[in-house]
Amino acid sequence: MPQLHLRSEESSRPTDVSRAISRAPGKIILAGEHFVVLGAPAVAMAINLYSEVKVTPKNSPGVDVDADIPLRFLAGKNRNSGVSDPRQLLRPLQLAAEATLKQVVAKDRGLRVNVECEIPVAAGLGSSASTTVAIISAVARSRGIELSRKKIFKLAFIPENFLHGKPSGVDQAACIYGGLIRFNRPSNVRTVRLEKEPAIVVCDTGIHHATGTLVGGVVRKSRREKKDFRDYIAKVRDISNGVVNALREGDDVELGVLMYQNHDLLRKIGVSHPKLDHLVEVARRAGGLGAKLTGAGGGGCMIVLCRSTRDRDRMSRVLRREGGTPYKVSMDATGVESQSA
Ligand code: PMV
Repeated sequence: MPQLHLRSEESSRPTDVSRAISRAPGKIILAGEHFVVLGAPAVAMAINLYSEVKVTPKNSPGVDVDADIPLRFLAGKNRNSGVSDPRQLLRPLQLAAEATLKQVVAKDRGLRVNVECEIPVAAGLGSSASTTVAIISAVARSRGIELSRKKIFKLAFIPENFLHGKPSGVDQAACIYGGLIRFNRPSNVRTVRLEKEPAIVVCDTGIHHATGTLVGGVVRKSRREKKDFRDYIAKVRDISNGVVNALREGDDVELGVLMYQNHDLLRKIGVSHPKLDHLVEVARRAGGLGAKLTGAGGGGCMIVLCRSTRDRDRMSRVLRREGGTPYKVSMDATGVESQSA
C-alpha cells in the first residue's frame, strides 16, 4: 500500500507530548443514506474493519501525517473518485489533528500522526470518518485528555465538512459509538439494542466514488423535485424505523424486504451504479434475504443480508464469481478507543 506523507507549516511553542494510540471501526448503513442529509433517519452499524492511529512527539513544530491506506481505487477505471493527488486524502486527517490540538489548548511542539487503515477508501464504509475520529481521540490522549464522544463527534465535522461539503454526521457517529445506531440529526443519535446480529456480507464493486459530489447532486435534485422527495423522505422514515424494529425483534425476513425497498429508492434518485444493481440482483437470485448499496453509492459497496452466518460463505463465493470483493463483517460493539502508549 502507498505510504503518504504531509507536513504542516504551523508554528507552535514546545511542551510535553506523550505517545498515544487509538482505533476506530468503519461502518455500513443499513437504511437511510442520502435521505439522512435531507432530514430522514438512518440506521448504521459499526463493523470490524479498522483504522489505527499512533501519535508520537517530534522536535519540529506542526503536524506531520503518514498514512498507509488502501488506495487502489485511484487506478484506471476509478479516476472519477474526485481525488487527483493522493496527498489530498491527508489534508482532512491533518485538519482533524490540528483542530484537536486547538481544542485541548496545546501550544506545544509538533507531533507525528501515523495512520494505518484497512477500510477500503471511497467505498461507502466510512474510511474517512474512521480515520479522523481515531486521530482526534489519539491526539487528545497524547495530551493526557480523554475527550467525550460528544466532543469527538463535534470535532469530526471539521475534516468531514472539508471532505464532503454537507455531511449528516451519521458516519462519524457510527465510528465513535460503535454498535448499531439510529441517527436522525446530530442532536438525535440513539443506540439500538439487537435481538441478534444480522449475518451481513459487504461486497466492494471496485468502482469508487466521491461522496461530496454524489451528496451535492442529490441535494440539488431534491430542490428541483420537491414533491417526489417529500414522498421519498416519508418512505425512508418508515423504512428506517422498520429496520430498527426488525433488528430489535430479530426479524430478518422483514429487515431484508426493507433493504431491497431502500435500494430501489436509492436507484430512483440516481446514486446506484449498474454494477451495484447487478450484484443486488445476483444476491436476490442467490437467496439473499435483503441487499442494497451502502454509503454514497455511485460504485463502492453493497451489503447482503444472508440467511445465517454459515450462509455467508456461499454468498461470498457467488459475489466473487460476479467480480465483487466480499468481506464477511461483524458488528464492532466498542467504537473509538484510545490509550497512552
Ligand atoms: O460513502 P460514505 O461512507 O461517505 O457514506 C456517506 C453517507 C451519506 O448519507 C451519503 C452522506 C452523509 O453525510 O450522510
